[in-house]
Amino acid sequence: MTERITKVAENLNVGGIDTVKLAKKHGTPLFIYDINKVRENAQAFVHTFQRLGVNSQVAYASKAFSSIAILQVVKEEGLSLDVVSQGELHTALQAGFPTDRIHMHGNNKSIEELEMAIENKIGCIVVDNFYEIELLEHLLEKYNHKMSVLIRVTPGIEAHTHDYILTGQEDSKFGFDLSNGQAEQALMRLMTNEYFHVEGIHCHIGSQIFETTGFVMAVKKLFDAIGKWNKNHGFIPEVLNLGGGFGIKYTDEDEPRPLGHYVEALVEEVKEQANQLQIPIPEIWIEPGRAIVGDAGTTLYNIGSIKEIPGVRKYVSVDGGMTDNIRPALYNAKYAAVVANKVNEPLEETVSIAGKCCESGDMLIWDLQVPKVESGDILAVFSTGAYGYAMANHYNRFPKAAVVFVEDGQDQLVVKREQYNELTRLDLPYERG
Ligand code: LLP
Repeated sequence: MTERITKVAENLNVGGIDTVKLAKKHGTPLFIYDINKVRENAQAFVHTFQRLGVNSQVAYASKAFSSIAILQVVKEEGLSLDVVSQGELHTALQAGFPTDRIHMHGNNKSIEELEMAIENKIGCIVVDNFYEIELLEHLLEKYNHKMSVLIRVTPGIEAHTHDYILTGQEDSKFGFDLSNGQAEQALMRLMTNEYFHVEGIHCHIGSQIFETTGFVMAVKKLFDAIGKWNKNHGFIPEVLNLGGGFGIKYTDEDEPRPLGHYVEALVEEVKEQANQLQIPIPEIWIEPGRAIVGDAGTTLYNIGSIKEIPGVRKYVSVDGGMTDNIRPALYNAKYAAVVANKVNEPLEETVSIAGKCCESGDMLIWDLQVPKVESGDILAVFSTGAYGYAMANHYNRFPKAAVVFVEDGQDQLVVKREQYNELTRLDLPYERG
């Protein structure tokens, strides 16, 4: 799948390491991240902004995969960070992430979350709704703290992988509506309160988007609003945050653009619109999650039972499933995979990869072409770096998998495999009467 995944000898090699050896050493299921690929993805965004001479922040959307080690890598690459919860902020603090480069999201931020953000003087809060404004008004006064904010708007564009929909009024739980004046009302309320510094506007139009069209349409919509707000209130945005959502390749059917293309399209449109309005070109922020870590991740599984229903299907079961990758069950997401210890063998059969959860829907891949497969083989599923470990769950009380980074021929355990005693750590015994 990625250029770094090469076939050497008989086994699949990722980041200079034999994956079969990794599976033996660390056990399975195992997430492995090619850290050079993470760095490369990050720099594809950063360098394009630099080349185009635009001030920018590339904020890693940590919901895609948050752990102390990955945030340390992201920090090294000079990225900012998008967090959506106290847990994600906690992880960022544990990773020593510079708090002025942290942005907080969420459609229902709690008082505790907002207090944590204020106490740690994070870079900005992306304000989502009137309830949040009210909470912040009280808290910022209490803490006597001036907070930079972006106002999140729903531009009425819903982007899908291959197409996009324009809706007059977007039906979304996130942000302020642009079409009915709520966004302008929110802006006024923030601009007239000395505890807020309104840095700019934010929008996010969706995830796993391949085309640049939806992003360009969103910029146009934002500038319609900016033009109006500029005329009515003298508003000039310092920052435009255009969210994340840049698509990656899961299977050969996916055809994302090179990451820099999205940046080029955004920058071009922002420059043109700003020039038309005769306002300075704002800083452009983006929030990629999947595009930073998605294709850097591979999951290794051990193949166990194999059930053949003659003339119907061959089920090949692995030692993980919807507990480490819920995306096929939840979104019908497609993945590519190989038998890691047989990469040089010819593809001979079509099998379906089943997870081990007690649920028929726990299927990872339907109809995968593989060499003659046997119990004990190692299956490597590609592009599992985003929303895999992050969405892992404890269904059937499976412990969470381990995570290993590979870089320049070295492997490093960065999230330990969960142990059974940790699964029951929070349980208390039943006591009668
Ligand atoms: N910014 C905002 C405000 C977001 O809501 C999201 C994703 C991102 C950035 C990052 O999007 P990305 O670049 O990763 O596409 N669990 C789903 C994806 C949910 C995305 C939610 N928001 C999946 O597994 O496909």
